[in-house]
Amino acid sequence: MSAPATTVHVPILAPEITRWLLEPFRELPPGAPAHWLVDCTLGGGGHTALFLETLAADPALARHKVLSIDQDLEAVERGRTRFEREISEGRLEIVHSRFGEVSTLVRGRPVLGLMADLGFSSDQIEDPNRGLSFRSEGPLDMRLDTASGESCREFLARSREEEIARVLWEYGEERLSRRIASRIVEARRRGELPATAKGLAELIERVFPPAARHGRIHPATRSFQALRIHVNRELEELDSLLESVILGVAPGGRVAILSFHSLEDRKVKLAFKTKEGPFRALTKKPIEPDEAEIRANPRSRSAKLRVAERSHP
Ligand SMILES: C[S@@+](CC[C@H](N)C(=O)[O-])C[C@H]1O[C@@H](n2cnc3c(N)ncnc32)[C@H](O)[C@@H]1O
Repeated sequence: MSAPATTVHVPILAPEITRWLLEPFRELPPGAPAHWLVDCTLGGGGHTALFLETLAADPALARHKVLSIDQDLEAVERGRTRFEREISEGRLEIVHSRFGEVSTLVRGRPVLGLMADLGFSSDQIEDPNRGLSFRSEGPLDMRLDTASGESCREFLARSREEEIARVLWEYGEERLSRRIASRIVEARRRGELPATAKGLAELIERVFPPAARHGRIHPATRSFQALRIHVNRELEELDSLLESVILGVAPGGRVAILSFHSLEDRKVKLAFKTKEGPFRALTKKPIEPDEAEIRANPRSRSAKLRVAERSHP
């Protein structure tokens, strides 16, 4: 199936991230060779587009290049269509890859900026075949890279009750983790393990007392977050980004990371905090979208941006 050429994803804090990341490029001496800006999460291409546009608009910056990666082949194909011209002009490369492989990809390239906009895109949540939304009648998959790893249903079909409960608690801080895990295993025993995301959302909803079923957020929100993080190994991927990938950034270069829940933000904060470490935090407190951005794009409400600069040795 070919990817739709358009995106419904709205980039978050894009002008701010572009400003932070392009500053070191502006400080290069006029004769300096082309440097790279790496977007580790191409998604719908929102940030990549603004990077390309801003670089092209300034003759002093126009020689620099962008490398964008995504683990989702559909995002990569859509990006290759959207940015066909920039790719043919040699200003952009798009690679189907994961965070863990970025260190190899950037070896030998002078990288002066790197960003990651963690999690999933609106295109992915609205794709019924991914099973990321509570309403989805498609398969209970949840993988962002549908070509590798095990689906959510495969995980629920083979795992012990304690393991399912641990995932729901550790990655979703779900207080009813044990009860939900027990219901899932019960359904499995009866041969009724839900095949769709909607089916799983309904099963989880029934674990909650009726009064708790109609709050501001869907009762399955924390469980879905937890299962998605587990299935996609999101925290391990973030560790590899923070422990090795960002070391590919040259001294004076910057890293910007947008995270969407406290487990991620805690890791980013810690990686940028160490006094003698290779990075110096430029944002003491995370930057959050303002009210106007949240109104225009409600998905941005939980976003936190941290930026750090690679120290000179
Ligand atoms: C929030 S979206 C990015 C949206 C993009 N910044 C935009 O404005 O259009 C996150 C993207 O990162 C990708 N992604 C998440 N984790 C990844 C990983 N470990 N390696 C590569 N890509 C990843 C997802 O597949 C998704 O397309």
